[in-house]
Amino acid sequence: MKSKRAYVCQECGHQEPKWLGRCPACGAWSTLVEETLAPAGAAPAPREAHATLLAEVASAREARRSTNIAELDRVLGGGLVVGALVLVGGDPGIGKSTLLLQALGRIAASGRRCLYVTAEESLAQVKLRAERLGLSAGELYLLAETAWETIDAARRECRPEVMVVDSVQTVGLGTLESAVGSVAQIRGVTAQLMALAKGEGTAVFVVGHVTKEGTIAGPKVMEHMVDTVLYFEGERSGPYRLLRAHKNRFGSVAELGVFEMRGDGLHGVDNPSELFLSQRADGPGSVVVTSVAGSRPLLLEVQALTAPCLYGSPRRISVGFDPQRVAVLCAVLDRRASVDVGNLDVYVNIAGGVRVSEPATDLGVALALASTLVGRPIAADTVVVGEIGLAGEVRAVAQLGARIQEAETLGFARCLVPQIDLERWPGPRPALPLVGVADLRQALAVTRLVS
Ligand code: TYD
Ligand code: MG
Repeated sequence: MKSKRAYVCQECGHQEPKWLGRCPACGAWSTLVEETLAPAGAAPAPREAHATLLAEVASAREARRSTNIAELDRVLGGGLVVGALVLVGGDPGIGKSTLLLQALGRIAASGRRCLYVTAEESLAQVKLRAERLGLSAGELYLLAETAWETIDAARRECRPEVMVVDSVQTVGLGTLESAVGSVAQIRGVTAQLMALAKGEGTAVFVVGHVTKEGTIAGPKVMEHMVDTVLYFEGERSGPYRLLRAHKNRFGSVAELGVFEMRGDGLHGVDNPSELFLSQRADGPGSVVVTSVAGSRPLLLEVQALTAPCLYGSPRRISVGFDPQRVAVLCAVLDRRASVDVGNLDVYVNIAGGVRVSEPATDLGVALALASTLVGRPIAADTVVVGEIGLAGEVRAVAQLGARIQEAETLGFARCLVPQIDLERWPGPRPALPLVGVADLRQALAVTRLVS
């Protein structure tokens, strides 16, 4: 049968019969590459199948095994599910290979057989890294190979419980004409890995490098095929790395794993709040807020700064926080609390490279803005929790108890909370003094930003 050729967008996987300079689906330029598509073949005869009543399906909790790395287990949703296919994405050099080799080493040390397939480095290089990481021998097998068929044969012989393929962009199927790393190859290799994970119950981690646009190369084609997508991020020059779930069929995507990269590999950070607040700059514009990342509350520093707008309309720029939300909070400050942002550029930053998307940080951001505008600091031992509505009212937040507990643990002296939560408080009050505020004006008065 004659195989079909098509031009495939390397960004989104869209197919066109003719070459185009710009992908009509995703709008990316110069991303269409000619690829051979596998022949369709004759449709097989349908198998007999019957739909099952929901009530009659036997319920089985997915079996999970620990990776022996607490932060990784947390982001996976409480351990690695048997037969799961997990994509680990991130910039080159961020530490993906280190994390996965370390995980396999720990799993192998607990007596389970593991296979690490490297398609980027030599066995000697991996060995060197393993020595650096101080991995004990265990049943950890290595393979340096780029051809999928060879990897599959070695895997059959080795029969690992957990396997790593590093990386999907450097492994190729011999049956496809397309270049290794192309969308067709990535899709083909991912399909093979999925069949292997589901068919044999092998848990598979596959590494994917991120393109400079910030998506995993061959992104959409891969993300929807796998069970779990984890991103490993952080400043390459700094020691801290964040592991975040972007998609997870077996757990929450709100969980955050925090690691420190040291000379002997990655170390989990038990108390990230302490870490994120460690370089805190007390002074106008700095406020401590809480964010609940999955099951764990985090204390974070919000920083705000204003500067004269030199031309055009004033800008609202933020790192780690939604800029639209900053614009809303500026408007509410102006209209409901008479704190005028005027013709100033506004900058908001969540220190430590963390992103927050929770409304519970609104009040803290608004107070940080007001603080920098009036040039007066907020007491350094105060934590601020609350959502702000357009009327300037402070609204209730979720999981207030956990947030207050974390503030108490870290030795803060008081916590600004929504008045409405205080009135509805269910049990005995915590030891940490709570100051209820009903609206933004009251919050500004309590923190002495306006008199
Ligand atoms: P690596 O895992 O190779 O990154 P990726 O697979 O994501 O491309 O990590 C590379 C960086 O990590 C490298 O710059 C050196 C650093 N590193 C340490 O600081 N300590 C260590 O123990 C190891 C193994 C690496
Ligand atoms: Mg690597």
